[in-house]
Amino acid sequence: MKYKLTTILLLFIAFLNAQNTQSPSKNISLDFKLSSDGIPSYTLAYKNKPIILQSDLGIKLKETNSLDANFRIENIDRKSVNETWQPVLGEQLNIKNNYNEMTVSLSQLSSNRKLNIIFRVFDEGVAFRYEFPKQPSLNYFIISDEKSQFNLTGNHKTFWIPGDYDSQEYVYNETKLSEVDNSKIDLNNGIGLKSIKDKYRVQSPLQMKTNEGIYINIFEATVVNYPVMHLDLVPNEYKLTSNLVPNAIGDKAYLQAPCVSPWRTIMVSDDARDIVSSKMILNLNEPCKIEDTSFIKPMKYVGIWWEMHVGKATWDYAGSQNAQNAAGNLIPTGKHGATTANTKRYIDFAAKHGFDGVLVEGWNVGWEDWFGNWKENVFDFVTPYPDYNLKEINDYAKSKGVKMIMHHETSGSVANYERHLDRALNLMKEYGYPAAKSGYVGRIIPRGEFHDGQTMVNHFNFVAKRFADYKMMVNSHESSRPTGFSRTYPNYIAAEAARGNEFNAWSNGNPPMHETILPFTRLLGGPMDYTPGIFEIKMSVYDKSKTEQVHTTLAKQLALYITMYSPLQMAADLPENYEKYPDVFQFIKDVAVDWQESKYLEAEPGDYLTIARKDKHSENWFLGAITDENKRTTEIKLDFLSPNKKYKATIYQDGKTADWKNNPISYDIKTIQVTSKSKIKLSLANGGGTAVSFEPIN
Ligand code: NOJ
Ligand code: CA
Repeated sequence: MKYKLTTILLLFIAFLNAQNTQSPSKNISLDFKLSSDGIPSYTLAYKNKPIILQSDLGIKLKETNSLDANFRIENIDRKSVNETWQPVLGEQLNIKNNYNEMTVSLSQLSSNRKLNIIFRVFDEGVAFRYEFPKQPSLNYFIISDEKSQFNLTGNHKTFWIPGDYDSQEYVYNETKLSEVDNSKIDLNNGIGLKSIKDKYRVQSPLQMKTNEGIYINIFEATVVNYPVMHLDLVPNEYKLTSNLVPNAIGDKAYLQAPCVSPWRTIMVSDDARDIVSSKMILNLNEPCKIEDTSFIKPMKYVGIWWEMHVGKATWDYAGSQNAQNAAGNLIPTGKHGATTANTKRYIDFAAKHGFDGVLVEGWNVGWEDWFGNWKENVFDFVTPYPDYNLKEINDYAKSKGVKMIMHHETSGSVANYERHLDRALNLMKEYGYPAAKSGYVGRIIPRGEFHDGQTMVNHFNFVAKRFADYKMMVNSHESSRPTGFSRTYPNYIAAEAARGNEFNAWSNGNPPMHETILPFTRLLGGPMDYTPGIFEIKMSVYDKSKTEQVHTTLAKQLALYITMYSPLQMAADLPENYEKYPDVFQFIKDVAVDWQESKYLEAEPGDYLTIARKDKHSENWFLGAITDENKRTTEIKLDFLSPNKKYKATIYQDGKTADWKNNPISYDIKTIQVTSKSKIKLSLANGGGTAVSFEPIN
């Protein structure tokens, strides 16, 4: 009798200590378990196949007992959510948020300390986060480590970049997990700060594919008041563990209960389109906190920008800080891009071709000394160079109906930027600037901080909020990569935070497959300011000795306006280059940037991507198809078009002999009539693409 009761009790505890929850479709199954030592863990299966093997969860605290063992389950809470919300700007009008949630409330046997782990299971993946409830024995605390494991089942194909705490501006490596090794890649290929200590540390989002054709993506959502999570790999065991970016003194996060960690996410599907189209990351973020969002508007813009990257102009007015005359005035180089006259030329061009904005870089004093000196007070964000007349330019822009976009390069001196931010925003207000582009090139001040640490995450989020206070939008470059914060603060309209098109101008560039990977990685967290639209592809046009080039055909540059989602899109090339190809330029003039609907038609990370999108404000559709270095033909059914309409389809495609390396500019434009019953055959060159616009004609 006694024996039987003990067995029943043990069975009951085992039952309580193992909990399961599934996705609405039942394809994904998540098991939570508490070991006999009270260590929490989980496993994940997709269509009954294991995806994540038993993986421990837990938080290490600096000064007190850690929250990683000796737990018992206090309570299990479950709920289901199925709702729809509308983003201010987005890929679609309505976003469905459908998941099953399980909250496991734990308490520690000795200390009675509490920790909750919340799981949400969506149809395309799982998310979990730690919640630290308000409790007497845990108030203000320091996280020294997070031990969230992701134990994979095999040697998957992986698209990875090194775990540099300061930069994501790397080309992706496509290797097996066992071949990840930061010591074997070229870290000099870019402006990354090489804050890489570990051979096997990679960044998330990490996109993988199993031998059986299952796509797995590990990322995070809602990184707020917490550092970015990188991933440590044990290469031959295929085990990943969270690696939180430290601050200057080695701590990871300072928190006060009640509070939560970001969500750790694992997406999984046998169809790559489910991952690349997923809105899970946005869904895990808080709803919009800006009441009046009327100032948040999509923008297509041109700018005094590429001419500096190709070496035709300079950001600085004088060659160096020493280039001063006897009176102490800076001596101009004669190549300064941001002059009043040149800016007016761009304003005229924007007005003529219907662009919303003009960005001007190099307008303010400081560029003589901005790079590499780790100096605190480089820019004040309000003092223009003598040849840049703020008032005249802004009056002129207004008269032409064009908005100016401000530029705030901080050169990593965040302390200085925060000190000047309100003055900088007031200057923007005075002249009616709706938006700024910010930049964080170089090492961070406060010294010792990394771009991806908690202090900097808080800075980027603070800047978005402060811009919202002033009813302005911000687009950050070299920030930590977004994790869906643009749902909460949609005025954080875009970010670069990956290796952008600019690298093609002055480094060995971005290989053709680069743009087929970014939508599976960087873009899951929010819009990217990739700056497409380069028509003069070879840099030898500017200087015969140059061998750099954009790794693309001309038609692919058009397709990127569709495949790289952003409500802020630049036409990045020089006005004179667009004027050479007015027929091709027409697509950039026509293409929308804010959408009712998006259809992910074909997708394979590292190989190809085809997307069709419907303009938010008209019946027009646009299609973009891109490929990697291999040419590709495909047939696309146009069944996304409205059934009873005829459309004029303008197809911008690679010429018959086009090739990204040998013949990048060759293109062909044709116009045909189509309906929703039509099919079109696309032929993409090596490194090529196709763009199509569909306009109803009845
Ligand atoms: C790097 C940015 O990505 C680029 O767009 C900008 O022109 C330079 N920094 C200078 O701020
Ligand atoms: Ca950059």
